Parts: sequence; structure tokens; C-alpha cells
Amino acid sequence: MPNVAVVGTQWGDEGKGKIVDLYTEGADVVARFQGGNNAGHTLVVNGRKTVLHLIPSGILHNNKICIIGNGVVIDLVVLMQEIDELQKGGLFPPHTKLFISEKAHLIMPYHKRLDMAREASASGKKIGTTGRGIGPAYEDKVARTGIRVCDLYDEPRLQEKLRYSLLEKNFLLTGLYSAEPFSVEEIAVEYLAYAQKIKSYVADTSLILDTALKAGKKILFEGAQGSHLDIDHGTYPYVTSSNTVAGNAACGSGLGPNAVNNVVGICKAYTTRVGEGPFLTELTCEIGQRIQKAGQEFGATTGRQRRCGWLDMVLVRQAVRTSGIAALAITKLDVLTGLETIKICTGYESVNGNYTSAVPASIDEFAQCRPVYEEFTGWKEDISRIRDFADLPVNARKYLQRLEILAGVPLNLVSVGAGREETIILKNPFRD
Ligand code: IMP
Repeated sequence: MPNVAVVGTQWGDEGKGKIVDLYTEGADVVARFQGGNNAGHTLVVNGRKTVLHLIPSGILHNNKICIIGNGVVIDLVVLMQEIDELQKGGLFPPHTKLFISEKAHLIMPYHKRLDMAREASASGKKIGTTGRGIGPAYEDKVARTGIRVCDLYDEPRLQEKLRYSLLEKNFLLTGLYSAEPFSVEEIAVEYLAYAQKIKSYVADTSLILDTALKAGKKILFEGAQGSHLDIDHGTYPYVTSSNTVAGNAACGSGLGPNAVNNVVGICKAYTTRVGEGPFLTELTCEIGQRIQKAGQEFGATTGRQRRCGWLDMVLVRQAVRTSGIAALAITKLDVLTGLETIKICTGYESVNGNYTSAVPASIDEFAQCRPVYEEFTGWKEDISRIRDFADLPVNARKYLQRLEILAGVPLNLVSVGAGREETIILKNPFRD
């Protein structure tokens, strides 16, 4: 049965939301498996914009099962707001089935305060996090002190875990960061109330997914962030705190690796990055500003300006390898329309003058590399109404064909605008 994982091949913000939304039509179940509300997927359906941070984009389709898997870290305040807003907008159809893993870890108020306090005090060492408490929540998970969804239904255990956590967290907050401490009682009261509100959605999601698999249902695994924000394979330390590569689709949802039959990598036609960290193809000139404006490159979560630059195929090739990507979906090609010349980075020149076609593990070595470019002539024609690859301007086709060769995998799709219909579909992984 063709289950598909969709992952980002760059530093996030590749436009995964739109592609997941398109593929959802062919799927029965959509599962998030990592990250939290550091993600923000902007979807435009019938001209209406919806931004989702935690709930899988599949929610906008009737009759789909939407799963928030065990690998996700959940901020309950955000989750409840999201449910509320979807309901108010009539976008949470009555037949939608949302399930939240009882094993998922919670982002607690002290995680958020710690994240922000650390970033504020880390002069010169800032990661540029989203400030949503993602890192501290994953730290507690690995340290075996995290609070999970299931803990919300055992009051004495919740109190005990909170007491234990706050001993350390309050010490750090007050002693190291001169920030306000938290009280066990206040958090317990607040979270026990949330527990009742989300109770109907809490489930053993691994079991639900397994039952769906056995019934021949099709699962879409929705990745968040991008391959180069992966805690193991990204540009460490300027990464997020989860595994964003496709391998985590299995672990983060409670299935075996053979449940993921196909992986589609989402690749923006240029590169962007939010937060700190080296970005070799960054354009700090007028062209970068033009791309930022045309692509509306502002964070869906934090509103921060995204740094923009040329497409870096060294990054994309590595993502193809680390996620086992079988095909690429290219997004935002229309943003490049009107540029005289477009560049693709095909390799790096290292500080000692050697050529490399891989991302160095050391962040300092990476920062000192220089991009090696191939140049392409741009196109001027409006491409947003094109639905057939053959109708694209010849220079746009040349750009995509070279990209495909450099990636070593075929293109499945080319997006030429934000709307669902503004898409050239070459192959649908659920249908063809
Ligand atoms: P954190 O995930 O909030 O800890 O942030 C760590 C790094 O990942 C920062 O550079 C963030 O800007 C970046 N990041 C986290 N989530 C996303 C995302 O969904 N898109 C783009 N960048 C992200």
C-alpha cells in the first residue's frame, strides 16, 4: 500500500502545507510525526488563508483521520486555539477525526520561558529559535522528565512530575536568567482543565495507524521543518530539536519503517532560512529583497523575515540521501519570474580551495565554504496559469531539468502559485 512521507529538503518553509493539502485527497489518514508549533503551514483554499501549527493540514478535508503522533511536542494552549479557530471558521467538519497520541510530550509554560530566556541571554550564540519551547520540551523528553499527554489523566502523577521538574526549572529561571518562577499548583490546575477539553481526541495513535494500515488505508506522513534543521543531519547547532528526516515518520508515529513506502521531498525553487546559522547562497542584495517580497517570505509562526538566496543543490542532494527521497515537488517557481539571471549552487569551494559536493559536518568549515554556481537565463512570462510542464517557458524548463539532474530524482510536481489549482502535476504518489 503506497504510504507517502512528505519532508522538506531545505531549512523549512518549502511550502509543504500546500503539497500535503493536495496529496491529502488521495490519502485516508494524515499524520504529523515530529516538531511542534514551531511549524506553520499556510494554506490557501478557495482564496481563504488558513495557518496551521499543530493540526495536520488534512483537517481541511472532510472524512480524513488526522493524527498528532507521539513524536510531536504539543502546546495545549495552541492546540485548543487551533481547534477553536477551525470550528469558528467552519473548517473542522463534524466528520473529521482528530487523534492525539497519549505518548506525545507536552510543551509546558516553563519550556517556553526557558527557551526565550536562553535566547535573550545567548549573546553571539543565539540559535534564533521560534521561542515556542520546542528545544526545552525535547530536552525533558530525552532526560526522561517530560510530561506526556497520558500524565494529564493521573492527577497525583502530574503533580509529582511537575514538582520534580520545577525544582530544576525554577532554579534555572530565577538563578541563571533572572526570570519569574512557576508554581506547581497553578500549572496543575490549568493543565487538568485542558485535559478535559482534549480528552475526546486522546488515543493510542500507533494502534489507530496500524489498524488503518491493515485495512489497506493510505497514510500521508506530514513532515515539519526541513532536512537541514534535523537534529542529526542538519547544520548543527543551528537546527531544531527533532529528527525532521523521513526515517522519523515511522518512529514518531509508532509504526515500523516498512510502513513508509514512498518519500516526496519538497524543494522551493530558491532557498530561505529563518533564524541564525550559515547560509552560503544568501542574497543580501536587491535580488534577495525582490525574492522575499515576491515570495512573501515572512515566517508563518513568528512573522520574522526569511533570509533568501539561490537554490543550493548541495543541501537538496543531501536531503535526498538522508530521507530516501524518491521524487521532488518544486514550489514557488513563479517567484523567480522576471529575474534576468538565476543561479543554482552545485558545489562548494572549501577554505583551502578544494571542491566539495557535500555539506561539511563542522559548522565553521561550512560557514567558510564558497558556493560554486551555474547560471541560467530567466523568463519574463507569467507562469501562474500554466498547468502543463511543456507549456512552461523554455528557460523555466531548462532550470527545472538541470535541477532534476542535480537532485538525481524526478520531479513529481511544480507549484506556480499559492492556490491549490496553481500546480503542474507530473505524478501523484497516491494515484499513479
Ligand atoms: P526551534 O525549533 O524553535 O527550536 O528553532 C530552531 C531553529 O529552527 C531556528 O532557526 C528556527 O527559525 C528554525 N525553525 C523551526 N521551525 C521552523 C519552521 O517550521 N520553518 C523554518 N524554520 C524553523
